[in-house]
Amino acid sequence: MRQPLESYLSTSEWHITKSGWDPTQQGVEESQFTLGNGYLGSRGVLEELPRDSRAGTFFAGLYDNTGAHVTELINAPNPFLLQVAIGGEKLDVSAMEVLDHSRALDMRHGAIFRNTLYQTTRERNKIQYKSLRFISMFNPHVVVMRVELTPLDSSTVFTVRSGIDTSVTNLGLVTEGAKRHFHIHEYTTVDNTNYLCMQTFEKEILLGYASHLTVYHNGRLRHQLRPIFTLKVGAGRTVVITKYFALFTSQTVPQSAVRSRALDTLNRSVLAGFDELFKRHSRRWEKIWQRSDIQIKGDFRLQRKLRFSIYHLLIAATEHTKNAISIGARCLTGEGYRGHIFWDTEIFMLPFYIYTAPDLAKKLLLYRYGGLAAARVQAASGGYSGAMFPWESAGTGEDVTPTWHKDFDGRVIEIHTGERQHHITADIAYGISHYYHATDDKRFMLDHGLEMLLETARFWASRVEYDSNQRKYSINNVIGPDEFHDNVDDNAYTNAMARENLRVARTLYLTFKRSDPKEVRALTKRLKFRPKELKTWQAIEEGINIPNHKDGSLIEQFDGYFKRRKYPMPDLDGSSLPRFPSNVRLERIGKTQFVKQADVLMLLYLLRGMLKNEAVARNFLHYEKRTLHKSSLSTTVHACMASRLGLRDMAYRYLAITASIDLNNVYGNTQDGVHAAALGGTWQAVVMGFCGVFLRDGILCFDPHLPRQWQAVSFKLYWHGDRFDVTVDKRQVLLRCRREADRVRGDKRTVTVQVYGRKQQLELGRLYRLPSGKRTQTRVDVEDIF
Ligand code: BGC
Repeated sequence: MRQPLESYLSTSEWHITKSGWDPTQQGVEESQFTLGNGYLGSRGVLEELPRDSRAGTFFAGLYDNTGAHVTELINAPNPFLLQVAIGGEKLDVSAMEVLDHSRALDMRHGAIFRNTLYQTTRERNKIQYKSLRFISMFNPHVVVMRVELTPLDSSTVFTVRSGIDTSVTNLGLVTEGAKRHFHIHEYTTVDNTNYLCMQTFEKEILLGYASHLTVYHNGRLRHQLRPIFTLKVGAGRTVVITKYFALFTSQTVPQSAVRSRALDTLNRSVLAGFDELFKRHSRRWEKIWQRSDIQIKGDFRLQRKLRFSIYHLLIAATEHTKNAISIGARCLTGEGYRGHIFWDTEIFMLPFYIYTAPDLAKKLLLYRYGGLAAARVQAASGGYSGAMFPWESAGTGEDVTPTWHKDFDGRVIEIHTGERQHHITADIAYGISHYYHATDDKRFMLDHGLEMLLETARFWASRVEYDSNQRKYSINNVIGPDEFHDNVDDNAYTNAMARENLRVARTLYLTFKRSDPKEVRALTKRLKFRPKELKTWQAIEEGINIPNHKDGSLIEQFDGYFKRRKYPMPDLDGSSLPRFPSNVRLERIGKTQFVKQADVLMLLYLLRGMLKNEAVARNFLHYEKRTLHKSSLSTTVHACMASRLGLRDMAYRYLAITASIDLNNVYGNTQDGVHAAALGGTWQAVVMGFCGVFLRDGILCFDPHLPRQWQAVSFKLYWHGDRFDVTVDKRQVLLRCRREADRVRGDKRTVTVQVYGRKQQLELGRLYRLPSGKRTQTRVDVEDIF
């Protein structure tokens, strides 16, 4: 017995649903409904490709440079094409009368279900159209889609056109136009299977798509080879069309094996059948959710939004993500930023992977290690030592930051981020140190991490300028996270993060030199590293300029920032974000104190102990009144900082905005892909913000401030190879630490944590209830902010 398609879905609290057809929301929904498994991502286009739909199928790490200003993530052929017509009239939501239309993204099972009721124009016959599709989480190469057609009123002849849509292009910029990055290399038919192979232009990578289609009709199953065929279906009867795909690229298997692997995988998939493939896929998803889910009691709406963020982080990188591949600013969900990789990965997304899937976090850092040689060349070409990581990178880790851009109004805009946004090098070092302190992965450090830390520290040591009059080290001509202020000196964020890079490199070098002298000696020999470099680093750490107000408690974003013109904050828009000030021209925004995105606050968020709480509050109040949040990276930092300061309502407001960035298209560009940093930021605002998780002196700490409406939050965290089950409620933190069975570790049976400021020793396996008791609160006058 065939199961109804709906019955494959999990319960509705796991669904993102959309009802009705709104062409203005098509692109946004396509990004939101992307399916994927870390190896592959495919936008949630409707099968018939309605007018203006933008199919996008992306293989992680598959970039091409041909005809583009800079290399970009290739938009590969779309496997989900399926067009059905009745007497020449195409079943299409943008062309036909639609009586009912709804879709659900089932986040628990990684599947899209669709249900559309059409009415034909001439005969007024109703046709029920349903589909279910998934990209396997079990076998990353397998893609499956089932479509069911039911003519409700009278017997109907359907013409079905199924195939692989090779007409897809990358959109490109105004100056480049749309372009395709591949050509058809081979098309053959083997038994009941079609095999289509494309080859990319620049690197000549093969993309092999093996496909097979079955039709179940009148109790009979037949294999359909031809891409166009007709079906006569009686009134009230249902025809079931199932498309199976196996997708391979020569990026992950040898060129000579692409075809055989694709055909072989496809044959095995068809033999296994839809039900079995779905079962394997959904079981794998359930396992993944077990370690990644966060349950919030008392806030159904935020729960769903949080799961949406986690879902997208889960399809952006999985166990199927190969070494040396990272995640772009829009994951594998769209062409925004051409699929390039920014600091978003280490600062916004990495914490999610560190604490829920440390092996994946390691892979993301190995991508940076793969780019170390290029980063050395980049440093040398700027006249610096060590390694300077590029602001934007793609497949190889080399610099791919564009240098200019032409707007629709014909204006040419120079882009200086590649030349000046150097803080990314310190951000990567921060990510390495965060990973190490949370995982205790010494092997990674000895093989890769320490080398990156030493080389990045060397970069900063050569990047600083010494002012002998003031006896200060400066870093001049930079762009900090706040890109409104281009080409500034002594951006506090950059300088303090560089200082942290130097400090971490120095202290970990000394630690590993003591614990693993032989390996460290070999490394330093290879790097021609001299211990006297450590002295220089320490001098820079002590003397680097962090501009501030006289008493040191108010940080000046960069040298001269306080002298820029101050304006009142503009009104809020419908998303509760400040509008762009009407009295300032865009070109002059850098002359004002308006800040594009969290900069000083970002610094205080990352370097938690840098200032006392009172001073943190002072900075928060100051910058809060100047930040326009014109980047999706900003509100999350405000959410985390506000919750740290006990400003629960404000923190919640910022979290709600961050969690809605792609669900409500807050920045108006979700059609170009979801905002990866906001996904990771949502997770951080809940775990690091409200649940107050942070690291101090190698200890895992909890200092929660839950929003009023939340009763409890439960989640799991990996820590030094063990796993914590955590529940935070209004009065206490419940903790149980379990040893992961597959880890062989020392016989230490206790773990030290800090909860509400008090150190606690936990025995493995035991449940602890750690009450909040009384705690001192930093007083922050909220009135001051609004
Ligand atoms: C932000 C950067 C970010 C980039 C990619 C820009 O608008 O200012 O901080 O890295 O987008 O998300």
